[in-house]
Amino acid sequence: MSDRPRRRPKSAEVDPARLAAYTLLREVAESGAYANLALPKILRDRSISGTDAAFATELAFGTLRLRGRYDAIIAQCSSRSLDEIDDRALDVLRLGCHQILGMRVPDYAAVSSSTALVRRVGRSGAAGFVNAILRRIAQTELTDWLATLPPRVEQDGNDHLFAVNSHPRWIGAALAASLASDGQEGKLAELLAANNSAAPVTLVARPGRISAAELQKQSEGDPGRYSPWAVRITGDPGRIEAVRNGDAGVQDEGSQLIALALVRAEVDCADDRWLDMCAGPGGKAADLAGLAEQAGAELTAVEQHSHRADLVKQTLGPDSRALVVSGDVRQLPIGSGFSRILLDAPCTGLGALRRRPDLRWRRSAADLPGLRHSQQELLDTALDLLRPGGVVAYATCSPHLGETDEVIDAVIADRVDVEQLNASELIPEVDGAGSGAALRLWPHRHDTDGMYLALLRRTDSSANEPATRSPDG
Ligand SMILES: C[S@@+](CC[C@H](N)C(=O)[O-])C[C@H]1O[C@@H](n2cnc3c(N)ncnc32)[C@H](O)[C@@H]1O
Repeated sequence: MSDRPRRRPKSAEVDPARLAAYTLLREVAESGAYANLALPKILRDRSISGTDAAFATELAFGTLRLRGRYDAIIAQCSSRSLDEIDDRALDVLRLGCHQILGMRVPDYAAVSSSTALVRRVGRSGAAGFVNAILRRIAQTELTDWLATLPPRVEQDGNDHLFAVNSHPRWIGAALAASLASDGQEGKLAELLAANNSAAPVTLVARPGRISAAELQKQSEGDPGRYSPWAVRITGDPGRIEAVRNGDAGVQDEGSQLIALALVRAEVDCADDRWLDMCAGPGGKAADLAGLAEQAGAELTAVEQHSHRADLVKQTLGPDSRALVVSGDVRQLPIGSGFSRILLDAPCTGLGALRRRPDLRWRRSAADLPGLRHSQQELLDTALDLLRPGGVVAYATCSPHLGETDEVIDAVIADRVDVEQLNASELIPEVDGAGSGAALRLWPHRHDTDGMYLALLRRTDSSANEPATRSPDG
């Protein structure tokens, strides 16, 4: 394998879609850009649309998701360790690898376009190296490559599965534990594979603003599987008038079901004050705002970061009656006495790996203790802000037990004024939505993001006997 620069072909044009995918990988690596937010802007700035945009998206997102798998394959073909390969050349190799092993791009096109790309991005010296490695990768089928990935199956079945499916070990192990606690021990391979697929594009017909039937007509979409407001589409949502004017938005069905469960829960108090205590960027707040108006209730939406509070206002639209407040909900003087509270807690986001392709490499197990601390404090705050008889929906887009069941158990164990409701019973549309009282949605089972929902009702603490906690804590 020679690293000597070869003579540059006379017309080594790089197509805009591949260059856009490469640009995204560099933005993620160099400035920590979020892939799902940065790619639409890159495509827009370069006027890339239609099939070229679809190609760039599949190339960039597929490469990001499967980076761990491809790095293990590249390492086997290279005499240099990955650390010794120039960063730009390595990204070109990853993109080439995905074209050869993960897309239906002919080998010669993947190899020659990657060689041209590495020259185009100022690494002509690595052109021969990239060309040789990719030609070597193309000689072996994907299934044969996967069988070579360490550790071998016979050593530890799960570690091999994590490598093949490009999941960092700590994430794979956490997902395995969550599946086991939901009685789905045998489903790990299915879940990991689902995390590597593209999520469907689902719209929400915002309650009170447009009906799902009208949105379906406008978008030529299909009804969702579970939510009465969901419409599944293909193509760019930006082409749809209702999305452009805010009557509809892009929202996973799992998120829609969280709002639905909260409004279906039975409260045992006056039901006129609702709170979304972690609202940014406002997807669920917009669902709740319409539902609150229909129910004759006021909605307050709180968001800690002011730029995200602005996004909430934007998502709610100028005609919304909801009150948006910026600040830390644990310290704001918003009063107590709410009847329904949504706590969509800050979390690792491990349930949304298919929608956020770079997330698995961005997060680390070290993030958990800080998140867990906030989650418990926020849930305690939510319970304090409720009227007796009111309900809080604790939701995460993560199935990690450390930020789901363990948070609920810890908070319940410390209070006498709370009872857990059965959340999955409130959403009979979903079959098999979790063992126990929580609602659990899974990408491999429900084709939604991995979502968790626990519903807690505040009881009158004086009615609890024996009382082990004084009313003021
Ligand atoms: C999971 S996101 C919420 C997503 C939102 N419900 C939606 O559907 O668009 C969590 C949000 O909580 C905010 N947050 C975290 N801690 C907070 C706090 N103490 N007070 C208010 N907002 C907080 C974060 O800034 C983040 O925007």
